[in-house]
Amino acid sequence: MEIPAVRASLVLLVFTIILSIIRNLLFKSKAVPEGTKPLPGPKGLPLAGNAFDIPKSHAWFKFKEWADEYGPIYQVKAFGTTMVVISKESIANDLLSLRGVLYSDRPSLIMPRLITDDGFLGAIGWTDYWRRARRFAQSMLSTAIVQESVPKQTTEARQMVIDLAKDPSKYAYWLERAGVMTSVKQIYGLSEERGHAEEHHVHEIVSYMEQIDRVAVPGMYLVEFIPALMYLPSWLAPFKREASALAKRHWNYLAPLLQQQTEKYDNEKHESPESFSRRYLKTKNDWGLTDREIVWALSSIYGGASGTSATAMQSIILNTVLYPEWQQRIQDEIEEVVGDRRLPDFGDFSSLPTVRAIIKESMRWRPVLSGGFPHAVTKDDVYEGYHIPKGAVIIPNQWAILHDADLYPEPDSFKPERWLEPEFPTFQEPLTTYPNLKRFAGFGHGRRICPGLEVTEKALFLQVSSLYWACSVRRKRDSTGKEIDVPWYDYTGVAISTPRHFQFVVEERKVGRLKMMEEAALAAHSHELEIARGEGV
Ligand code: HEM
Repeated sequence: MEIPAVRASLVLLVFTIILSIIRNLLFKSKAVPEGTKPLPGPKGLPLAGNAFDIPKSHAWFKFKEWADEYGPIYQVKAFGTTMVVISKESIANDLLSLRGVLYSDRPSLIMPRLITDDGFLGAIGWTDYWRRARRFAQSMLSTAIVQESVPKQTTEARQMVIDLAKDPSKYAYWLERAGVMTSVKQIYGLSEERGHAEEHHVHEIVSYMEQIDRVAVPGMYLVEFIPALMYLPSWLAPFKREASALAKRHWNYLAPLLQQQTEKYDNEKHESPESFSRRYLKTKNDWGLTDREIVWALSSIYGGASGTSATAMQSIILNTVLYPEWQQRIQDEIEEVVGDRRLPDFGDFSSLPTVRAIIKESMRWRPVLSGGFPHAVTKDDVYEGYHIPKGAVIIPNQWAILHDADLYPEPDSFKPERWLEPEFPTFQEPLTTYPNLKRFAGFGHGRRICPGLEVTEKALFLQVSSLYWACSVRRKRDSTGKEIDVPWYDYTGVAISTPRHFQFVVEERKVGRLKMMEEAALAAHSHELEIARGEGV
């Protein structure tokens, strides 16, 4: 490379940094409009603001601490970016839902957008592509279509119980596998042989989501603070080369999944089972999505499902190890409703309120996305006299929202009864319908609310009722026979906050139940494989 070219690029680099600093300083010095007041918040350093006070891990605890000091809506600043932190559900609803037209953008997370080629629904802004892809995702995940996938979810839930009972130490993989294989069937219409083919999918999608999580950590890439670095040529910007390699790798995995379905659809002699891909191919003209966009739209559903439900299920297992009395209560309920002669299924949903209460309380007590999923506001706004500037990042801090003592008395206690007994503010009748996960803050707010809520509700219900019908989970004992403790709180500090590895044993509750489950799962899986090969009906 020529020396003058290097020098010119270095000058460009310094210039872009200076420009950004000036831009940030100007931004910071802007006063709030007349008749409004600035949001309260911690004082920060010139330029950097509070950037160095925000921990890179478990930031939700610091945000909750600040909420206790500055109130349920306050602001923090980092290098000219204003972050508005919300700690009460009613405020999240007022802004993110009722004023959804202003509050449905996403902060510009450059690296997550680059590694997903601007195609990942959760990471992109309020764009025309988002509207088209969201309409498609919402339609595929609607009640009627999701209901059709219940048999597949049931088979995977049962397989998960069998795997867990065989080797509980690999629980993280078994739970993830159940979610990924349901998605692969639902979205791409694929049924795979157990083993290697399945492992490949789990590995690909999990590592993809881990990369998104990793590059989204604030402070990981300078370009997030200094967007002008995007103007640098690739050879001087290693982040660009890294992002483009990752995007290519994901594309090489995702595109053939749809391509396979397209070829099958074009050549099919009789109707194949439905999948989101097949539904798309049948109604292609309704969606206005290009061939490239549909690959990413489908992968957004696939990616959104990965890690999330499995994390919720890990917390549920951990909580039933910690609180065996609640495990006993759900087992008594399941025993009464389901009994010995059949396996639990989705038809039992309305009869098992305690199962639903354990699921919902686990998701409240240990939120999957503890720090919340940020939105951004597209225009200046005023809320209760406070000025909220255009472009501000809005953080609905789920940890604080779901530990709000007004709505959840004794918020730090695991209390499934808050969903079952009338003296609690969260109780709702009838118990055949409530508690359920609809409109639950753990799934976000407004136009960006998680479209996968119903899939999750069904998957968790099936997994919990199947697991505790067939088995009990208990503390493991060491070689001296002493019970090994499980931690009360030891979770990762990133976007999807997962319990760190814990130990437990899985015991069959009554001889024959696992065999019954295994036979049912095996028969259903063989049937799915036959249909996929075009041998069945
Ligand atoms: C325990 C399970 C899950 C939890 C806790 C969860 C939570 C969330 C949250 C908090 C958001 C952001 C909402 C907002 O910005 O206000 C989100 C977005 C999203 N979720 Fe989920 N989710 C779960 C499962 C799923 C599943 C199973 C799917 C797919 C089948 C899915 C697909 C998506 C997608 C595509 C988005 C992006 C939506 C957008 O930006 O427009 N999620 N989820």
